[in-house]
Amino acid sequence: MLPIDSMPPRIVMANTPTPLQRMERLSRQTGVEIFFKRDDYTGSELSGNKIRKLEFLMADARAKGADTVLSCGGAQSNHCRAVALAAVRAGISSLLLLRTGDPGHPPAAEGNILLDALAGAEIVWITPDQYRERDRIFAREADRLKDRGRNPYIISEGGSTALGAWGYVCAMAELVENLKRIDGGEVKPTTVICATGSGGTLAGLALGARLFDFPMQVAGVNVCDDRDYFLKIIDGICEEFDRTWPMQKASGPPAYEIVDGYVGRGYALSRPEELAAIRDLARLEGVVLDPVYTGKAYFGMLAELAKDRKRFGERIVFIHTGGLFGLFPIAEQFAELI
Ligand SMILES: Cc1ncc(COP(=O)(O)O)c(C=O)c1O
Repeated sequence: MLPIDSMPPRIVMANTPTPLQRMERLSRQTGVEIFFKRDDYTGSELSGNKIRKLEFLMADARAKGADTVLSCGGAQSNHCRAVALAAVRAGISSLLLLRTGDPGHPPAAEGNILLDALAGAEIVWITPDQYRERDRIFAREADRLKDRGRNPYIISEGGSTALGAWGYVCAMAELVENLKRIDGGEVKPTTVICATGSGGTLAGLALGARLFDFPMQVAGVNVCDDRDYFLKIIDGICEEFDRTWPMQKASGPPAYEIVDGYVGRGYALSRPEELAAIRDLARLEGVVLDPVYTGKAYFGMLAELAKDRKRFGERIVFIHTGGLFGLFPIAEQFAELI
């Protein structure tokens, strides 16, 4: 069903299709049929949503003759870890701009940072203020690489570009197949929910949902910034997608919802009730979420369902976008909960 002719080249690196699992106890508890799409199973080192986008971005980097990819994120960025490891697989070096309060004293090499280092990524620590001006720092680092005779390729935050969005257009095609198998043909109305951090996953899901004639809604729970910020970012990605691959432009912009109100203490900062939700799900279903993205989105989903059981209709597919390595550096915050 995917317009394969329009699909840009990709390097297959993710373990797909990922399974769609019914959460029996959670469904009973909430009164809504809830499935998890296990995108945390896309790989072990490469676990999570980012590798779906990177399959396309790395192919583009290679096609352009790049020998070094540059990207950026928070200190414990899952995206940067996936970039570092996917780059190795694509035979390319990597340089990561990682955000931290005091670049003179960077955080310990644990969780994703340890994996970045194992993969041989060059890490440049930058402050939150510098991060806001990251385009300038990307340009500076790219120039530095060019001076050394290298050919850099910049992957913007989260790989959230029109090209990267193809990863979740493909994931939506996969999900439709998952659901057809469960429903035996006619797919029941379904709301797909994901965590939203830089917008590319939700943009891809919305673009994918528009392609298929199924009763599918998509919603993202933002884990930073706010609804207005993400409407701008995601509309921008979708517009660029339609300009570049105008296969569905005539049907209008894709539909999606931002579920705002669950950023809590801020990006990558957890509240005890969010961590308790992670613990409770581990004990209920044997599924472990991460504190920065999926844990917050899941907490938000449950809070919305507590207000209105029918908020997302009768069936939800929650995309488990990975992030497990981010759990271990905050182990001590669970001390009173376990
Ligand atoms: C585990 C995890 N889930 C969700 C997201 C959010 O995806 P996106 O950046 O495409 O909004 C990210 C990355 O930001 C992530 O690392």
